Amino acid sequence: MIRVVFVCLGNICRSPMAEAVFRHLVKERGYDKKIQVDSAGTSNWHINKRPHIGTLDKLEKYNISSENIVARQFRKDDGEAFDYIVAMDQSNYDNIVSVLGSDACSHVFKLLDLTEVTNKDVPDPYYSGDFEETYELVLEGSERLLEKIIKEQQL
Ligand code: 4NP
Repeated sequence: MIRVVFVCLGNICRSPMAEAVFRHLVKERGYDKKIQVDSAGTSNWHINKRPHIGTLDKLEKYNISSENIVARQFRKDDGEAFDYIVAMDQSNYDNIVSVLGSDACSHVFKLLDLTEVTNKDVPDPYYSGDFEETYELVLEGSERLLEKIIKEQQL
């Protein structure tokens, strides 16, 4: 099993959106027996909470399931439990490096590093209010991520 975790700050806006969108793509393309998807936040602020209503509304709009998604905090043992650790922005990336130590971060990267967009940080809709912009970027990054995994893991 290949394990992927998306990481943001609160685990209520961006990373649960990415978890749901990426799981949807994985299932749609028939890789759901091979790729497992999770998300986490670097903060402990929203542990056990469901995603933000803005994220839930977007997922519902695009017919993407948000079933069983609840916030949890990223922890050190996630470093070994996951094959791909995908940060939503630079500050999340830096926080992950602080938790895991820089020697244990070869499989940590930012989602939008896989895309051609200029700004490699997924904007935080908790502050911007623009969940649609975030959704479009998450979808673009998720498509690229699935291509990367299929290629690297020879699926
Ligand atoms: P997220 O957004 O990292 O995309 O889940 C945020 C959610 C909550 C807060 C900040 C960012 N907060 O300050 O509670």
